[in-house]
Amino acid sequence: MLKVIAFNGSARKQGNTSILIDMVLGELRNEGIKTETYGLADRPIKGCIACYQCFKNKDQRCAVEDDILNECIAKMTEADGILLGSPTYFADVSAGMKALIERSGMVARANGDMFKRKVGAGVVAARRAGAIHVFSSLNYFFLIGQMIVPGSSYWNLGIGREPGEVRNDSEGIQTMKTLGQNMAWLLKKIHGSDG
Ligand SMILES: Cc1cc2nc3c(=O)[nH]c(=O)nc-3n(C[C@H](O)[C@H](O)[C@H](O)COP(=O)(O)O)c2cc1C
Repeated sequence: MLKVIAFNGSARKQGNTSILIDMVLGELRNEGIKTETYGLADRPIKGCIACYQCFKNKDQRCAVEDDILNECIAKMTEADGILLGSPTYFADVSAGMKALIERSGMVARANGDMFKRKVGAGVVAARRAGAIHVFSSLNYFFLIGQMIVPGSSYWNLGIGREPGEVRNDSEGIQTMKTLGQNMAWLLKKIHGSDG
């Protein structure tokens, strides 16, 4: 069974990022794709320390073992698709999401682009501005690692400040639904089942 793992980089477990992720995952489940969400809120990840040990070890793991990063890598490895969700913090991804990207991205590069040809997509919550930059930051992770990125009817962002406010952004909701449908279509094409 096809599977998509979503990472929620928000400090608020039930905030707008979580709601946007769920909108995408709901469409994937409608298409028979298994989904799982992994929240980073109470699971701090440190940034890359540039030890380059992953290039020496080549064991598909980060050499820094004292947080949940290797668990995240294992979840990415077993999934067919990866969804990264981040709030907009000072016009960029959250610190937790940045740490996940730095370290899982480096381990993937050290191991021959280990997420190559998985399907990847990013979604962003914002109050007002900066979401497009966050969207770019998420896409850089996928595109440097030979992953395949589906599009939607707009860039994948939803507008809202307080938790739940993204539900008032009808275009954002439609963007998430279309993204989920396109992600499901692409996964099925790649894996040879009829969409
Ligand atoms: C530290 C911090 C920085 C923020 N910076 C921005 C920003 O640059 N642009 C923006 O539109 N919203 C900004 N916001 C607002 C959040 O992006 C917005 O409330 C979003 O819905 C949060 O998603 P969440 O509910 O998943 O936490 C910031 C919030 C925090 C806590």
